[in-house]
This record gives sequence, C-alpha cells and structure tokens, in this order.
Amino acid sequence: MSKLRVIGRNLPDLGNVSSEPDWRQAKPAWIENALRLATGRATGGWMVVDAAPKFRDKPRRYRLQGQDYVFWRNRDVVLAGADACPHMGASLAEGRMQDGCVVCPWHGLRLGPAGEERWPTLSVYDDGVLVWARIADPANKDESPGLTETPVLPVRPPRHLDAVIRHEVRCEPADVIANRLDPWHGVHYHPHSFGRLRVVEQLEDEITVRVVYRVAGPWGVEVDARFHCPDARTIVMTIVDGEGTGSVVETHATPIEPGRSAVIEATLATSDRPGFWMVAGNLAFAARPFMRLAARRLWREDAAYAERRYALRK
Ligand code: FES
Ligand SMILES: [Fe+2]
Repeated sequence: MSKLRVIGRNLPDLGNVSSEPDWRQAKPAWIENALRLATGRATGGWMVVDAAPKFRDKPRRYRLQGQDYVFWRNRDVVLAGADACPHMGASLAEGRMQDGCVVCPWHGLRLGPAGEERWPTLSVYDDGVLVWARIADPANKDESPGLTETPVLPVRPPRHLDAVIRHEVRCEPADVIANRLDPWHGVHYHPHSFGRLRVVEQLEDEITVRVVYRVAGPWGVEVDARFHCPDARTIVMTIVDGEGTGSVVETHATPIEPGRSAVIEATLATSDRPGFWMVAGNLAFAARPFMRLAARRLWREDAAYAERRYALRK
C-alpha cells in the first residue's frame, strides 16, 4: 500500500498516545465488557428492517426473529403483519396491492391498516431513512412490558446525504456489534480504506479513534471517530472532528433467525465545506451508489470477521 498523504483539515496534536502495537491495544477483555454493556441496553422491542425507500406500493417479505412478515406502504405509512393470510395461510408477499390494502393471492381477502381479528398489524416506525418494526422476543417472556412507542433513534446530522446497505450474515447480532467495537482491525484488515489509527479516548463502553480514511490511492482525510451503542443492536460511528464533522454511520444488527442476522448500515454524510450541498444536491444520484459501494466492500470483510467470531463460539 502506497505511503499515506493526509489532505484536508488539520487536527490538533494528540500528544502522547500509546505506541503499543495494535494487537496489544485491542484487548479482548475490553471488547467483551463493552459488548456486554451494549447488549444489555434496551431496544424497546424495535429492530431495523431496511432502507425506507425500499417500501413502496408492492408487498415485500422480511424474516425477523424467526418469522416471516409482509411489509408495504400505504401513502406515507408503512404497514406490516405476518406473511400468512388469516384465511388459509397464503403468503401475502405474493399478493397484490389495491387501494392501500394487500390482497391475498389465493382467495382475494383484503387486509388493510386495521388488520383483522386473527391478523394483527405490527408496530412500524419510519424515521425517514430506515424502517423499524417492533417485535417482542419470543424467547423473552418478560420483554413485553419493556416495549416502547418509538425506537431509540441515534442523533443524526439535520442535513445529510444518506445511503443504506443491507447485508445478511451467518452470526448473531452481537457478533456484528463486536466487530465494530474493535476499531484496531481497520488498518490491518481493510488497508484499502484505512491508514494510521490511534486511540484518542477509551471509556468503559465507547471509544474514539483518530484514523486516516483513504479517499484515493495515497490520499486520505484524517478524522476523529467515536463509536458508541445507543441500544443493544446498534453501533454508531460519529465523526467528532475533522472532515465531515457530524456525519454518522449507523450499523444496525437485526436478528433474522438463530445464527442469521441482517446488517443494515446507514451512512449519513454532512459537511460545512462551502459548496458541499450544491455538489451533493446535484450529484446525489452518483454519490449514493459510491457510498453504498464503499460500505459493501467493508462489510464483505467484516461479515467474515463476525461469522468467524460466531463459528469459534459455537
Ligand atoms: S388464503 Fe388468503 S384468502 Fe384464502
Ligand atoms: Fe471492519
């Protein structure tokens, strides 16, 4: 990999930081404890399903926590229920839409926002970037009282350019969170994307690192990035200093079924650079695929990391 050249905003000097090799700094005990604290946080029963624009006037099937659900959009509202018709069990995701209702493909039963006695609708929340669903964990009978009206929403930049990817992995949601609680692997495992990394601050359950993000060849921008977990299935990286301060990457890990999860990652980029919004506004159609490509590239590798972690535990 070519020698790094940092461009853009200069960050304040860090003074004395650890010169220990990364493999010594990446302490399994710290990662496990931070993960324990993160996975102990409440979710209110909410999990991210997919990017909001994916929900249109066509039914879509998603498997969440071992069950299939059908989702569709009725004007501004996303609706969902079990993907099994209450009449004789046909898959409603194979049905068609009519006046905002889903119509069963077998005998034409129409199901709308009010649901049906044997077919209650699911609580769904559309935050404008992602769609969430609230599903009580069947293995945890005590969770029902902990269900909340809305999900725990990470703080987002008020004005942003967003791009979302969804990637399925063969592991538990905790393995996805654990991968991101180990920032030390970045420069070694993704040398195409990251240069030098130094720890700025390490608390019990969050960590801030200074890292060079490679933009093109040897050129990169240096940022301070903080990782924290607002709920048990989410880890958020926030740029707290440097280029794009305020930008966030939300990594959500949703349980599909035992040993299978979905990573839904939203990148919300912002900048105070003059002209950024003019360029971003005009080139959003080109920028979004590029942002998705960069996120997918990392997740191809991070999926292998998370899956290995799961396989070793098993
Ligand atoms: S199975 Fe749906 S209407 Fe009969
Ligand atoms: Fe990674």
